[in-house]
Amino acid sequence: MSGAVPSGFLALPNVDATLAREIQDGLEQVEEVLRDTVAVSDPMLNEAATHLLAAGGKRFRATLVLLASRFGDPTAPELVPAAVVVELTHVATLYHDDVMDEAELRRGKRSANQRWGNSIAILTGDFVFARASELLADLGVEAVRLQARTFGRLVQGQILETSGPRPGTDPLTHYLQVIADKTASLIASSAEFGAMFSKADPGVIETVTRACEALGVAFQLSDDILDVAGSPEESGKVPGTDLREGVLTLPMFYAQRSTSPEDKRLQELLGRPLDNAEADEALRLLRAHPAMEAAYSDLRAWADKARAEFATLPDLPPRWAFESLCDYVVERTT
Ligand code: IPE
Ligand code: IPE
Ligand code: MG
Ligand code: MG
Repeated sequence: MSGAVPSGFLALPNVDATLAREIQDGLEQVEEVLRDTVAVSDPMLNEAATHLLAAGGKRFRATLVLLASRFGDPTAPELVPAAVVVELTHVATLYHDDVMDEAELRRGKRSANQRWGNSIAILTGDFVFARASELLADLGVEAVRLQARTFGRLVQGQILETSGPRPGTDPLTHYLQVIADKTASLIASSAEFGAMFSKADPGVIETVTRACEALGVAFQLSDDILDVAGSPEESGKVPGTDLREGVLTLPMFYAQRSTSPEDKRLQELLGRPLDNAEADEALRLLRAHPAMEAAYSDLRAWADKARAEFATLPDLPPRWAFESLCDYVVERTT
């Protein structure tokens, strides 16, 4: 397994050098515990369970735990295990998500479902989640409760995405609920864990959690834009996965709203499973569509909402780093 710790966020502008070094040290500890936590004697399960961790990943959620802890005592012993728990929860959901989305590539490598089939991929996700739960048990009842609530929201988001909006529900409102639940929930809880275990002021815990909920919505909006506009080299995923699966995302809602006759073909391709040729066609049409600019504009608005919340936190290096993350979620799509 690669020992490299991704440090992309820490190189962002306005991230204090001392803070960056200390978070980097923390991430190195997280990496070691991540490795130890999923290791298992059975060679097949060990290979499957270490597959996604070894393939890479940004460790965004672990970074959020450590960053939020800088508003309190960053030496609290619960922080590294909490960062491992949120990162493993995320990884477990990726195993499952790639089954649901029939994804071929994850973190630049063949997805677990491609490599070993759906049953092994699902069970490996369960196994990683079980290992995270074992670690979580030592962090106390409050942490278990927060994690259980978060996981419930996450699963609800995935189910709502699959079932689609109920009759009479606005599809865009439904979509925003889906992404808040499936993605923002864990991103917000990551910051909450960091602030909570470092014993930051209750007001700070509340604000950083709320700000990261908005940051998490922006993060998923940027992921959805990248599914259209990105490349496998950047994302480590196959573009057009949402289109191929018939999953509607923000740019597609804007394209659906168009009344222009020349959008008929694109609209006909949205929201249903597509074969490869259709998916390539839909991707080409959507990339060139003004709906992309409308989606970017919403992404910027969500990043601004998060930034406005962060701006009320104490004027300290962790706040500046969070503010830089608001720029990062927008800029990674351009
Ligand atoms: C991908 O998350 C899934 C989403 C919720 C958007 P990340 O973009 O954080 O994936 P990794 O961890 O870097 O692979
Ligand atoms: C992933 O959503 C959300 C969770 C894993 C809960 P997506 O399906 O949009 O994420 P990617 O694009 O595959 O990473
Ligand atoms: Mg997916
Ligand atoms: Mg998905």
